[in-house]
Amino acid sequence: MDRKALQSYAEDYTTDDSKMVKELVAASDEDLEHIDMLSGRVVGRLLSILIKISGAKRVLEIGTFTGYSALTMAEALPEDGALFTCEYNERYENIARTFFNNSEYGSKITLVMGKALETIPKIPGTFDFVFLDADKINYPNYYKLILPRLEQDGILVVDNVLWGGEVLDPKTDKAEAIDQLSRMIRDDDLVEQVMLPVRDGVTIVRKK
Ligand SMILES: C[S@@+](CC[C@H](N)C(=O)[O-])C[C@H]1O[C@@H](n2cnc3c(N)ncnc32)[C@H](O)[C@@H]1O
Repeated sequence: MDRKALQSYAEDYTTDDSKMVKELVAASDEDLEHIDMLSGRVVGRLLSILIKISGAKRVLEIGTFTGYSALTMAEALPEDGALFTCEYNERYENIARTFFNNSEYGSKITLVMGKALETIPKIPGTFDFVFLDADKINYPNYYKLILPRLEQDGILVVDNVLWGGEVLDPKTDKAEAIDQLSRMIRDDDLVEQVMLPVRDGVTIVRKK
């Protein structure tokens, strides 16, 4: 099976990104050597649909990169929605801020700079939607930090849960940490979850 061809087929049959989001992808590609950290259209549209059907208003994103998923989620949020997105790399911050400032949805976004494990406790309130997509080594720590702040019926989406297949036989610290989080979620009576083999793997968790 040609997984790349299937991924491209899935993208072709998925709603297109907005004009501004497409421009953000193009600008990221022009400015940076690699943009493979960007979650991409299938995950982006999944986040968008989940936000719309869940009625989420307060969103936390851990791992902004150049703002692809943040802007996609902000476009999906209601007018009184708010999205906090955490990043520590200033080079990515500059691209993200440019597009947040130019977007009519950018006013919903607060870009929080610094190490996310240190900045998240300073963000006030609870969340009804969280997208976890930052340093894999800290995935279990992020789960411990955010689950108590996730509302009942709140949704957590975890990206890269398959880590290119390495989780089947974890040999690196990152693969081990991702697998550890998946075990934590599976064994946690407070949540129900589904792991989807979409792109690099996405787990959708609902807090009971
Ligand atoms: C996979 S990328 C995020 C991609 C983004 N969600 C998207 O779809 O375009 C992960 C990002 O997390 C950032 N990051 C990694 N460790 C971090 C930390 N400890 N605190 C804040 N940001 C971090 C990286 O700089 C990187 O931009």
